[in-house]
Amino acid sequence: MEFKFIQKFIIEGKKDKLIQLTLPYDSDELAPIKSKETIDYHYGTLYKAYVDRYNKGEGDADFNEAGAFLHNIYFPQLQHPQTSNQPDGYALSFLLMHYASFEDFKEKFAKIAMGIQGSGWVYLARNGNIKTIKNHQIKSDIVLLVDWWEHAWALDYQADKAGYLKNIWRIINWDIINARLSTIG
Ligand SMILES: [Fe+2]
Repeated sequence: MEFKFIQKFIIEGKKDKLIQLTLPYDSDELAPIKSKETIDYHYGTLYKAYVDRYNKGEGDADFNEAGAFLHNIYFPQLQHPQTSNQPDGYALSFLLMHYASFEDFKEKFAKIAMGIQGSGWVYLARNGNIKTIKNHQIKSDIVLLVDWWEHAWALDYQADKAGYLKNIWRIINWDIINARLSTIG
């Protein structure tokens, strides 16, 4: 059930080709948290390459599929920066079941993210734990996902990875997280 929910993001069915995701915002809408230049490069060049290479049979198919898969979860959960952007609904209840507060969750998320060596991802899992992914791997239990590869932050934050993570909470679209959580059960 959960795996099917994830698959529909990426597989068209007939020929097992990956579909390039359409962003639900313009590439300049996440600035200054993620600049237009970063989104154009991250989405328009890098992400597109995973999809194209998979569909053309170039390179490592598992790596390209997992790269496309993770970005299909990452990009749609972002939105225009909000001044106060707190979780509500299912997301708030879920976080408070597992953490003392949203602040407590963010602190633990940052600590685990900062422990990742090299390229990877950090995510809130369906069991409430904060987990990491090395490079790219398909996972069926992602609720909220942060891209920790250098291409996601270096252009805007130089060496300040922590600054990227601190700011990203301003562009998380909690409606999307709530929709994911509503499929648990
Ligand atoms: Fe990425």
